[in-house]
Amino acid sequence: MKARKSWAEPFKIKMVELIKMTTPKHRLKAIKEAGYNTFLLKSEDVYIDLLTDSGTSAMSDRQWAGMMLGDEAYAGSRNFYNLEKSVQDIYGYKYLVPTHQGRGAEHIISQILIKKGDILPGNMYFTTTRLHQELAGGTFVDVIVDEAHDPKSEFPFKGNIDLQKLEDVIKKHGAEKIPYVCMATTVNMAGGQPISMENLKALRKLTNKYNIRIIHDMTRVAENAYFIKEREKGYANRSIASLVKEICSYTDGATMSAKKDALVNIGGFLALNEWDLFEEARNMVVIYEGLHTYGGLAGRDMEAMAIGIRESVDYDHMHARIGQVLYLGDKLVEAGVPIVHPIGSHGVFLDASAILSHIKQDNYPAQTLAAELYINSGVRSMERGIVSAGRDKKTGKNYYPKLELVRLTIPRRVYTQAHMDVVAESVTDVYENRKKIKGLKMVYEPKYLRFFQARFEP
Ligand code: F0G
Repeated sequence: MKARKSWAEPFKIKMVELIKMTTPKHRLKAIKEAGYNTFLLKSEDVYIDLLTDSGTSAMSDRQWAGMMLGDEAYAGSRNFYNLEKSVQDIYGYKYLVPTHQGRGAEHIISQILIKKGDILPGNMYFTTTRLHQELAGGTFVDVIVDEAHDPKSEFPFKGNIDLQKLEDVIKKHGAEKIPYVCMATTVNMAGGQPISMENLKALRKLTNKYNIRIIHDMTRVAENAYFIKEREKGYANRSIASLVKEICSYTDGATMSAKKDALVNIGGFLALNEWDLFEEARNMVVIYEGLHTYGGLAGRDMEAMAIGIRESVDYDHMHARIGQVLYLGDKLVEAGVPIVHPIGSHGVFLDASAILSHIKQDNYPAQTLAAELYINSGVRSMERGIVSAGRDKKTGKNYYPKLELVRLTIPRRVYTQAHMDVVAESVTDVYENRKKIKGLKMVYEPKYLRFFQARFEP
């Protein structure tokens, strides 16, 4: 393996949050009570929390200082204008509609652009995004490259769109049935995999030919930019900021969960370049989120976001952030644990179908592995497999995704290298004892986004 230079954090720690160590007996009881679903654990019972990188980042002293400058006026808060300026300066989108988080923006854009019977091609689905498309009457179609479905493939841009697949979809259904292509940077469900600039440019060309919009799920766009700089020929000398802006420039609008890249605990937005769409979105946000200058957020939240957006495109920050993820991934590779390759931007994804190959997909290998890992050490992870994939809305049958994964998601600026060592040891321990592990059965299934609240038994 190629030795990497140090990725040490470009910050020092000013305040600490104490965490609790627990006993195996306590954890066994806790996971039983949680129906073997890590989403239903109390955070107090968790030692190292790698459930998600969403809203779990540590804010900087500057962001906290910004919180004190919250202008909590109902209308026209100064923090809204600061946020609008950050979005325009860093991302280049013209118009901003703040929302309480990413799915608020997904809801609004889906309701505005999707008609019943429409087709939404995208580079793999995301759970909330696809559900909002379906609730608006659309059908999602996956047009990601085949490599994305193969955990072993080392292809560096598994977030790429297969343009032939996309053109086939356009020809089959007709461009008028496709309100937009949903393009995510990076692709969460594929393992935090990036799309290349070359692919994005070609996508723009193809969609221009058919007059189809690109709506950008820009949740982890700065992480995607980092991978372009590292991996794509011709971009090594570019700044993260300039790459982020270029990515956005090839798209027509964006939904953002600022709880990831933008380093805040809550917040998101819809960004648009077309005045007519913006007007409609600005009108709709009033119904579902709040007035168009706060969108469900406090002024102080918008200020923290305005500052976080600027911090997110700093090279040293991103180098350390992704460096930490790679550090954990490399340790697991060394220990022989099957993971998704290449290691993604926001977490390490364990290949549960390879690790628990003796458990059928109907007995939820990834759900089982996440529960076992918690019992082993108090490390909390997340299922990203058949439970997350849900059911086909027409037939009611389970989707059987090719990827059956457990995600060890790394919050930004929160844990240390020593924490990563503990995680690697625990995963390795579970892996070495994998043959003893038995699967689960689902005993309660909610109607929407079942992975959040489903309950299981051994
Ligand atoms: N798009 C992507 C790619 C996401 O990862 C998420 C959230 C959203 C949209 C929705 O944003 O949570 O602010 O409403 N992902 C979180 C996760 C929940 O853990 O991966 P939200």
